[in-house]
Amino acid sequence: MTAEHPSLTIVDHPLVQHKLTLMREKDGSTARFRRLLREISLLLGYEVLRDLPLTSRRIETPLEAMDSPEIEGKKLALVSILRAGNGMLEPLLELAPSARVGFLGLYRDHETLQPVEYYCKLPSELAARPVILVDPMLATANSAVAAVDKVKESGAQDVRMMTLLCAPEGVRRMAEAHPDVRVFTAALDRELNDKGYILPGLGDAGDRMFGTK
Ligand code: URA
Repeated sequence: MTAEHPSLTIVDHPLVQHKLTLMREKDGSTARFRRLLREISLLLGYEVLRDLPLTSRRIETPLEAMDSPEIEGKKLALVSILRAGNGMLEPLLELAPSARVGFLGLYRDHETLQPVEYYCKLPSELAARPVILVDPMLATANSAVAAVDKVKESGAQDVRMMTLLCAPEGVRRMAEAHPDVRVFTAALDRELNDKGYILPGLGDAGDRMFGTK
């Protein structure tokens, strides 16, 4: 958390920061970018899920019975903002293989920078699940705010957002629209340019992940 952005958690672990540097470099291959995004997402996921409530269950070890902790309540809901969110979804599913999964198709109109919804499929009973929205880049936050609006309309109460990079403009916009949503990221960059790209950033995360232009 920072004083200026109380809802933001920057995961400043050396491994995360080192891998992010490699991801930012413009000449890295698609395969390397994808692999690093997976590795960083596993590390970010660890922090995003840190405060999940625990209960305990009676089990038998080979030697004796014990009360052992397990995660309480309904399974998580992971909601990927298409398409770049999918690169963070798969590693989160490695951490939480029973999670329910939703997809929100919100592309950014390159002229207006406003989100346009083209697909929405969400898990049931969102009110009873922690909901983790995933999208690597929190730039203007227009899509992210629309995504939070959407999951809250479906009942979500505990909503967290996992991103790779944030712009201060996006963090402020999310905090104004949804002050209860905690945002987890690897870095808070300097600013947005006039096309809505994060500076210094890493370019278009979807293009770099999928090898498109
Ligand atoms: N989306 C991206 O992929 N990159 C940016 O810099 C901003 C939004």
